[in-house]
Amino acid sequence: MIRGESGTGKELIAHALHHHSPRAGKPFVRVNCAALPETLVETELFGHERGAFTGAQARRQGKFEQADGGTLFLDEIGELSASTQAKLLRVLQGREFERLGGNETIRVDVRLITATNKDLEKALAAGTFREDLYYRLDVFGIFVPPLRERRSDVLLLAEHFLAKYVRIHARKIRRISTPAIDMLMAYHWPGNVRELENTIERAVLVTDGDVIHGHHLSPTLQTAEASGTVVSRSLGEAVGVFESNLIQDALKSTRGNRAKAARLLGTTERILSYKVRGYGIDARRFRG
Ligand SMILES: Nc1ncnc2c1ncn2[C@@H]1O[C@H](COP(=O)(O)OP(=O)(O)O)[C@@H](O)[C@H]1O
Ligand SMILES: [Mg+2]
Repeated sequence: MIRGESGTGKELIAHALHHHSPRAGKPFVRVNCAALPETLVETELFGHERGAFTGAQARRQGKFEQADGGTLFLDEIGELSASTQAKLLRVLQGREFERLGGNETIRVDVRLITATNKDLEKALAAGTFREDLYYRLDVFGIFVPPLRERRSDVLLLAEHFLAKYVRIHARKIRRISTPAIDMLMAYHWPGNVRELENTIERAVLVTDGDVIHGHHLSPTLQTAEASGTVVSRSLGEAVGVFESNLIQDALKSTRGNRAKAARLLGTTERILSYKVRGYGIDARRFRG
């Protein structure tokens, strides 16, 4: 189950998981649960037989069957209605289903990847998402942090998108100016990577010379207030941000093992734990 805000790259990760798996030669089928009306969910997922309902003129395979041997990606899983959640759970537990209006039992071999930007724990507490289904799906959780929490990715991604859109639009832009990079780094990116990609494409289109300058970036990036970050931080704050990033990187490479992370950073586990608490770093995120 891939969790993270909208635009952080969940769908891209689902694709990557599929394409780097032994199932890569088999289909990758995506279903956007948010876009499915309640009445269509069942036939979409499980298919139907000819004559199952008015207008069902031919048998139709559902997404589970289409994905046989490959991967089924259920996107926006947090939007499923109670009745669909119940049906899905039954299929996952029994590992078989029937097409709507049919009585032939169908078994498929699919790897299920799900994604949501919703706070499912809150939905569990509110009773709008089934706990049993949640535990079925959350076998291996992947959390994708928002872009504002991994600022070192901003520059890498900006250069990647620059190269991409320079190619697509056949422009001769060589680089992004330092002040423009500072603006990209300072902005809080509520739309995450998707917003950054749009920003760079727009900048490529409006830039006439060979350098992207600050004024080529979208208006939302132009003011310090909009950036959501104070432009001039105190030395103490700046060092704190730097230290927190170092600690998170160390925890990442030791999969959340504090003793090892402390050794990497040349400090003690006690000091590291103290700082982890102080910076509000959720060390559990790096486990597994
Ligand atoms: N690490 C990355 N490298 C390149 N492009 C990325 C990366 N992460 C996200 N993107 C791009 O950002 C956009 C949003 O990603 P997407 O996977 O649709 O996000 P989500 O499903 O979390 O809303 C897509 O165009 C995707 O290709
Ligand atoms: Mg998405």
